[in-house]
Amino acid sequence: MFDSGLGGLSVARTIRAQAPATRLSYAADTAGFPYGDWDEEDLRTHLVALIGRLIERARPDVVVIACNTASVVALAALRAAYPAMPFVGTVPAIKPAAMATASGTIGVLATPSTVRREYTRALIDTYASHRRVVLHGAEGLARLAEEKLLTGRVDGAKIAAEIAPVFVEEDGGRTDTLVLGCTHYPLIGKEIAAAAPWPVRLIDPSPAIARRALTIAATTTPAPDTPSSGLALLTREPDARLRALLAREGFGEVGVV
Ligand code: DGL
Repeated sequence: MFDSGLGGLSVARTIRAQAPATRLSYAADTAGFPYGDWDEEDLRTHLVALIGRLIERARPDVVVIACNTASVVALAALRAAYPAMPFVGTVPAIKPAAMATASGTIGVLATPSTVRREYTRALIDTYASHRRVVLHGAEGLARLAEEKLLTGRVDGAKIAAEIAPVFVEEDGGRTDTLVLGCTHYPLIGKEIAAAAPWPVRLIDPSPAIARRALTIAATTTPAPDTPSSGLALLTREPDARLRALLAREGFGEVGVV
């Protein structure tokens, strides 16, 4: 599992819930986080090199890019660079949201970088051209999710300010479905729901990503009988609080690449 930071834990938790015996390694580019403001070309080059080092180190059967920003920027380049490795990407769940909405208005919350990508616009054109889509790049929401995970606390007013632009009400229809287009956001799903001005359905893609990854893993390797402690690979030395969090999440062994 790879993410810029701790957001991929939302997918790791789902994989563990669906198949507890899966051997998981969790990689986070803690030195590069957040990806929201990176230049596209720089990020692509950086990711191809970094994922190569991580594959060497963890020797996985499947790589899950549990990061929308990295997936929309670099998935094609990663597949081209490592053709023997199966990759599962994460892209904003616009298709299920377009199917689920009753009002016809969906909100898409993602990082500024994901929002800027042509890939995201193409998803909207393909799956939601018959819907009103309010796309918003949230500057600080991924950081707020990390803060919640690490400290147990988060400022509800800050979350409300980050998500406010996706809530629109026009011609009697208002946003009723919200795509969590960054893997950090399901980690504060409850807080997002509480900060919303009215009830909305949150679309979290983790169950679908987990199923896809497990299907591929099952075809390449037999699952171990007992859960093993997972390996966490980071791009800079973690502090004690991050180490403790990773251990609680089942990643007791930590390495730096
Ligand atoms: N978790 C990442 C995503 O799904 C990005 C968070 C960030 O690096 O800003 O897009």
